[in-house]
Amino acid sequence: MNTRSRTALLLTTLSTLGAGLSPACGSVTPTATANVAPTAPYQDRRAAHGEEGAQVGAVRAASEREQHILAVLEEMYADRNRRHLSVSEEDGRLMRLLTEAVGAKRVVEVGTSTGYSGLWFALALSSTGGKLVTHELDPERAKTAQVNFEKAGASGLVTVIVGDAHETVKQHTEPIDVLFLDADKEGYLDYLQKLLPLVRPGGLVLAHNMNRPAADPRFVQAITTDPALETAFLLMDGAGVSVTLKKR
Ligand SMILES: C[S@@+](CC[C@H](N)C(=O)[O-])C[C@H]1O[C@@H](n2cnc3c(N)ncnc32)[C@H](O)[C@@H]1O
Repeated sequence: MNTRSRTALLLTTLSTLGAGLSPACGSVTPTATANVAPTAPYQDRRAAHGEEGAQVGAVRAASEREQHILAVLEEMYADRNRRHLSVSEEDGRLMRLLTEAVGAKRVVEVGTSTGYSGLWFALALSSTGGKLVTHELDPERAKTAQVNFEKAGASGLVTVIVGDAHETVKQHTEPIDVLFLDADKEGYLDYLQKLLPLVRPGGLVLAHNMNRPAADPRFVQAITTDPALETAFLLMDGAGVSVTLKKR
């Protein structure tokens, strides 16, 4: 089975799981117009991948709110200058899907950059009724991210905290449903140690760049040897994403 087929299978399985969630776990009722057509470029790009791409399918907006967010994601995808070391579209889709599947109310991201990954979270959170708190060291990037969140109509879902996240994450006290690490790679272990106690049982820790650039072995050891955690490594022919479940 090739990567796109594996990804398609994973996404299908996860969305089936999500569909089976009880309302308490955050199952989603579409709020506005169902079956809003995907923006043309998404469809075209998938079509351009031929048969394999078609298996993954276009991103379809289920409401005008989603369409609004997808339009800004599309703009950012099309213009490299509006992204800085951002996750791939495939990574973003996975993160959105997992976030929505666990019915996340509170997502913490370390490494905002210009907000591309944050918008994938916003897509999920617009359905779950949750919020994202995202940390960025660089004030200019943080400002650009804020503009992108506003353009997407998602600024009400996102709080951007500027500063060194090794310090600023200490202000979190509330339970976290999804923690996403995508800042300084050698800092992942410190972020994990500081924030894992707040991740709720059944919550997820996602970490980017498990393959490219190489992951910090101390972080990999921490997420693969703790019996309270279960970790899978996905999309490893790209940058690679680890998905760690904090067991109940
Ligand atoms: C790979 S980029 C994040 C990409 C973003 N998650 C996306 O996909 O759109 C990493 C970001 O982490 C930020 N960063 C690095 N060290 C940091 C630190 N100690 N605290 C907060 N942010 C940091 C960098 O300034 C950079 O913008």
